[in-house]
Amino acid sequence: MKQPLPLASVADPIAPEALTPFRNRNVYIENYGCQMNVSDSEVIASILAGAGYGSETDMRSADIILLNTCAIREKAEERVFGRLGEISSLKRKRPDLVLGVCGCMAQRIADQIAERAPYVDLVMGPDSYRNLPEAIENARGAPYIDTRLDPLEDYADIAPVRAEGVKAWLTIQRGCDKFCAFCVVPFVRGRERSVQLENVVEEARRLADSGVKEITLLGQTVNSYNDGRHDFADLLEAASEVNGIERIRFTSPHPSDATDAMIRVMGSNPKVCSHIHLPLQSGSDEVLTRMRRDYRVKEYMEVVEKLRANVPGAAITTDIIVGFPGETPAQFEETYRLMERVRYDGAFMFKYSERGGTVAQKRYADDIAEAEKIERLKRIIALQESVSAEIYASKIGTAAAVLAEGVSKRSGDDLFGKTDDFKTCVFPKGGVEIGSIVQVEIVNSTPHTLIGRSASRGG
Ligand code: 5AD
Ligand code: SF4
Repeated sequence: MKQPLPLASVADPIAPEALTPFRNRNVYIENYGCQMNVSDSEVIASILAGAGYGSETDMRSADIILLNTCAIREKAEERVFGRLGEISSLKRKRPDLVLGVCGCMAQRIADQIAERAPYVDLVMGPDSYRNLPEAIENARGAPYIDTRLDPLEDYADIAPVRAEGVKAWLTIQRGCDKFCAFCVVPFVRGRERSVQLENVVEEARRLADSGVKEITLLGQTVNSYNDGRHDFADLLEAASEVNGIERIRFTSPHPSDATDAMIRVMGSNPKVCSHIHLPLQSGSDEVLTRMRRDYRVKEYMEVVEKLRANVPGAAITTDIIVGFPGETPAQFEETYRLMERVRYDGAFMFKYSERGGTVAQKRYADDIAEAEKIERLKRIIALQESVSAEIYASKIGTAAAVLAEGVSKRSGDDLFGKTDDFKTCVFPKGGVEIGSIVQVEIVNSTPHTLIGRSASRGG
């Protein structure tokens, strides 16, 4: 997903005497991958704005181009190599252009990037963004590589430069300690570390002051949050006390860290939204064991049942991987059947992609044929589409509270936003102000969207 960030529009003003010789140089950041990368791009934008760099939304007029990359599957990396190839022609025309690769792919395969794209100036891992200004300043021909992992880096003192809007991402934790067999994240993002609760609350206040109504707390296994004194349930409660913040979401929790306290807060605190993304990965205990997921189907289902019993109207979405090494047709059927049983509101579904250095790559052959992976993926996508369509259609005739986020791309007369349980809803503008939560009556649906008409205005 390409997402240039409008940096200058929201950067703090910089005193003229503090301006560096780079004040006329502009940065363009292109984002790939997950929300954590979006949040990191906002940190990068802040670090560079602080060093006097301006922002640019058009890559062709930028002096510095940074790609913030993803390494989760091979396809994500190949896309970036393709993009680098395109940018290399710009670089040939303008040799002073500084081109950098940041993020997980930079961390994972810095040497390969230097070899396959030797025209790249900087390769910067997720813990080295503080060094970006210096690295840009010193960019000279050969790639400069900075992929030190710093177990203490949490960027807590950096106020991210965000695009304006009524929603914001708030990183509360970095890294991951789980080491699932298929996953590269613990290698490229290092060990888990949590931002102190006070810093998170302070940032939430700052966001509320700037007009943000909804925050999404971010972490690789967000609900294993622990700052030494507080756990995730404490943090949800503390964040909900911030005046002006009306909705709190979080992503992505891990099933094994879904404590009763967390579920209780979800059910009882009106600001904490009734949606949870709960990655299953596989519905087979044997596959889960080989994946080194530390729960079994029974435990996962206990969490689902507790959520349904304690969080009224809870929506549950998930991640599924098909074609993990050794996944037999019968084991795949177990996943299919579990998806039928849970009836997820939505799912991200992936073919297994072997990643160098992971336990799965070292231990198991990537032995499911590509055609078979595609077949399995198609089957669960078809299942999920029909379940989603049914769930969305079942909302017709009900009322939902929707946070009006902006004008619909399809029609200037409509607004769009999300329901409390994370469904996109499109409804007529009427007199509704962006940033307000409105009661919408659902009159129609598609598999991924609710169509509404405003019933009344709420807070
Ligand atoms: N291959 C396919 N999918 C993967 N994921 C993580 N690693 C891989 C991989 N090697 C998926 C998981 C995870 C989501 C973010 O990406 O489902 O939850
Ligand atoms: Fe990867 Fe597992 Fe950590 Fe999620 S919990 S980031 S899948 S290692």
